[in-house]
Amino acid sequence: MPETDNREPKHYFEHIPAPDYGFFLKGASSFDWGMKNRLSQIFNPRTGHTVMLAIDHGYFQGPTTGLERVDLGIVPLLPYADALMCTRGILRSTIPPTAPRSVVMRASGGPSILKELSDEEIALDIEDALRMNVAALAIQVFIGGEFETRSVHNMTRLVDMGLRYGIPVMAVTAVGKNMARDARYFRLACRICAELGAQFVKTYYVPEDFATVTASCPVPIVMAGGKKLPELEALTMACNAVKEGAAGVDMGRNIFQSDAPAAMIQAVARVVHEQLEPVEAYELYQELRHQA
Ligand code: R5P
Repeated sequence: MPETDNREPKHYFEHIPAPDYGFFLKGASSFDWGMKNRLSQIFNPRTGHTVMLAIDHGYFQGPTTGLERVDLGIVPLLPYADALMCTRGILRSTIPPTAPRSVVMRASGGPSILKELSDEEIALDIEDALRMNVAALAIQVFIGGEFETRSVHNMTRLVDMGLRYGIPVMAVTAVGKNMARDARYFRLACRICAELGAQFVKTYYVPEDFATVTASCPVPIVMAGGKKLPELEALTMACNAVKEGAAGVDMGRNIFQSDAPAAMIQAVARVVHEQLEPVEAYELYQELRHQA
């Protein structure tokens, strides 16, 4: 039986960047041309970072606050996002094909908010992903969850499908309600996703030792926004995540539930791509919000 590895200290060398071997994204130098091209549609090659707008919440919780009318609330934000993360139902029904720079498609589903969320399956055919010209696929991985093995297997199957056509997979580390959200957990979850083939990983920010999560994950990490925070706090979190090694954000509620979503996404973009400090970004948010 394997033993739990509790030995401390471990050495993550957070201050030494991973080698790029000729491509701007961490861990991606040996990928095929198509996969690199798709990743370049999500991550800006100039900055190496991304602002993804996550609006896929309806796949398990229905019309989430702020997403009641995607045509009215979200479509006007698309010019400010590098990529849109959504479901195929919303994409086809509501998103103009001319609008987003790239699409990261929700590829798992099954249980609603009323049931055990880790009980997911792959919910998309790879041919449909090709038809929609997606830049990447997204799937939950429930490390420590009730259906942990199935969710990992869903991810590895999706990675295999994606590799056939050059479509990267973003693993989303989904944390059970009663589980500890700390760096130790996210190091474990992110590394498992990367080891088993995810081309990038979405995970939550933790104030303590987040740099060890990014340093020990050999592929890019994008920060999930999580529940709605006051704007300055959300901008501070995004700023800290990028400073501590995240390759950007995949934010939902902290953008579309903001009092001024268009101002907020522009402020987030300046933090992510131009390293604007949180207070300056907040000032920008206030300025843009009053202009609107
Ligand atoms: C959650 O499971 C969904 O996949 C969302 O895309 C995302 O993680 C939520 O975004 P946010 O937490 O920023 O609202």
